[in-house]
Amino acid sequence: MNYRELGRTGWKVSDISFGAWAIGGAWGQVSDEESLAALNQAIDSGINFLDTADVYGEGRSHRLIAQLKKSRKEEIIVATKIGRRLPKQTVEGYSRANITSWIEDNLRDLNTATLDLVQLHCPPTGAYYHPEIFAVLDDLVHAGKIRFYGVSVERVEEALKAIEYPNVQTVQIIFNCFRQRPADLFFPQAKAKRVGVLARVPLASGLLTGKFRADTQFAADDHRNFNRQGQRFDMGETFAGVDYDVALAAVEEIRALLPPGVSMSQFALRWILMFDAVTCAIPGGKRPSQVADNARASDLPPLTPETMAAVRSIYDQRIRPLVHQLW
Ligand SMILES: NC(=O)c1ccc[n+]([C@@H]2O[C@H](COP(=O)([O-])OP(=O)(O)OC[C@H]3O[C@@H](n4cnc5c(N)ncnc54)[C@H](OP(=O)(O)O)[C@@H]3O)[C@@H](O)[C@H]2O)c1
Repeated sequence: MNYRELGRTGWKVSDISFGAWAIGGAWGQVSDEESLAALNQAIDSGINFLDTADVYGEGRSHRLIAQLKKSRKEEIIVATKIGRRLPKQTVEGYSRANITSWIEDNLRDLNTATLDLVQLHCPPTGAYYHPEIFAVLDDLVHAGKIRFYGVSVERVEEALKAIEYPNVQTVQIIFNCFRQRPADLFFPQAKAKRVGVLARVPLASGLLTGKFRADTQFAADDHRNFNRQGQRFDMGETFAGVDYDVALAAVEEIRALLPPGVSMSQFALRWILMFDAVTCAIPGGKRPSQVADNARASDLPPLTPETMAAVRSIYDQRIRPLVHQLW
């Protein structure tokens, strides 16, 4: 496992980290026993950074992480998020009273005195034009409730605005073979400002593992069933917003590029790590075998310039015309 500096925090985090949404819920049935095994596999593989949120199973993901931390002696850095408990996303919802109360809930569920990193969880675009929201986070840092804060964004424009705030340490954004726009304008600026970048949905909700087919069925309580058109949250969070059949065809072209002995998931993650503005990819993992498979991407040799150009060309031809300007 390799480690990269997380912005200006002083932390070095595993470049393949762990996304803890699926172990909370919204991805079909999961058992806590298997989720804990997946978390333990993450630590065994050298992962030291976990991304979660208060709404992942309404505290379930938090409580599993608290259990993990209690049973392991390794340093484990936890990035969580706040804001999605609002019944409706409004700027007014990000009030001092609400933010303070979400933080208290997270401290309780994660069973800790201080939260390592708190991210605003895809607030409305308008929130980035309200410095008082960021001032509340500054106050919580001074009060010792949180060590650092950052944002999780939907759009490149939000990322660019967010990093104007000097104490925003991290930006979490969708970045994968099917979502390449962040690399154009945002990455150079994040690098210049030494802001950490967390690449989320790195496997395009599993599409880039190469395991899905046209007739694959998803459970009723799996967002890959119920959110394909953005019915419950932003459409981009499911399959990175790419039409399922278009994506399957692109996956087959990517499959032809795999070096021997490299899995599709590892290839997709290694592609992300080719961008040095990225601090880490945070693939979701429900099972220990998935986590181990993903972690191995860290130690793969770099992809060749020809391979990088080939992925870009697949994106340009099949994906870019459909989604590039949307996020
Ligand atoms: N708004 C936000 O801030 C936001 C939104 C989305 C995600 N996130 C964060 O980003 C993390 C990652 O994104 P994501 O979980 O949405 O999507 P993802 O990482 O692209 O896909 C994860 C899913 O792919 C499958 N998978 C993972 N590794 C695999 C492997 N090696 N082989 C086969 N299948 C594998 C698993 O589901 P199955 O086994 O069921 O196929 C897993 O749940 C989340 O966990 C969360 O922490 C944040």
